[in-house]
Amino acid sequence: MKRLDTWFACALEACCAAEGVRPCMAFFAVVDDERMRELNRETRGVDSATDVLSYPAVSYPPGKTARDCPRRLGAAYDPEFGKPNLGDVFLSMDRVRRQAMEYGHSVTREAVFLAVHASLHLLGYDHMEEEERAKMRAMEDIVMERLGIGRNPMDEHLFLRACEALENAYAPYSQYKVGACLLCEDGREFLGCNIENASYGATICAERAAVSAAVAQGARRFTAIAIAGEKGDSWPCGICRQVLNEFSVEMRVIVGQKGGAFDVVPLSELLPRSFGPGDLEQQGESQNG
Ligand code: THU
Repeated sequence: MKRLDTWFACALEACCAAEGVRPCMAFFAVVDDERMRELNRETRGVDSATDVLSYPAVSYPPGKTARDCPRRLGAAYDPEFGKPNLGDVFLSMDRVRRQAMEYGHSVTREAVFLAVHASLHLLGYDHMEEEERAKMRAMEDIVMERLGIGRNPMDEHLFLRACEALENAYAPYSQYKVGACLLCEDGREFLGCNIENASYGATICAERAAVSAAVAQGARRFTAIAIAGEKGDSWPCGICRQVLNEFSVEMRVIVGQKGGAFDVVPLSELLPRSFGPGDLEQQGESQNG
């Protein structure tokens, strides 16, 4: 799973590349609404929480950005990191989650977008005047494109549906709710959730519940499955990986925590050198037989 701090580093790096300056560093801190409100009050005299605050360490002349000021960047060189230090960024995860929900995209996308926005502030961009706002927006678009994030709205959609399915999970024993949304080749989507049992062993995982629903409706070819856990990233267990592999080795597996970021990996990465229907073909058995 690409962690948020890795994403922040990538966001800053991509901003520096788009700006055409050498790689720089910055500090990113994730806080809650309460801390954000304190910060905003203490540093800007505004007594309310906000999504992101950036504190540039370099000042740029009006209308100029980092690419116009190589000497100022040089003066910000931090020998400990071997790069210029552009400043500090604070993000409120409470806000990030709420805004992601509002805009209907993932928490990762929202957090990365704000990290890009803040990094551009650290590079001298602003959005007070119309002209500079347009320049900043164009840079945001370029960097988000370079980062390739949120370019697959289908994954976003499937993950949000898995989060919905999680609400129906029956998990009185583990209190670990899981939801899944399986996308079939023909475009149909099937939901599943974990269904526990007093005998424990009779428990069905969310992924296999979704596969059962799909197969019962005649769908056997899958292109993706999104899996959402309530308490953490819910990577599919070994049995579920095997069951998914029965139908498609090449599907995308989208995994994350409800209200959090998600990662996308091919099933073949989760079940390398697998045993599947192809191995029994000589006996005349196959998945669609
Ligand atoms: N669980 C799933 O639904 N999918 C997985 O792949 C891993 C585990 C569920 C089963 C059980 O209800 C709970 O998580 C704790 O194991």
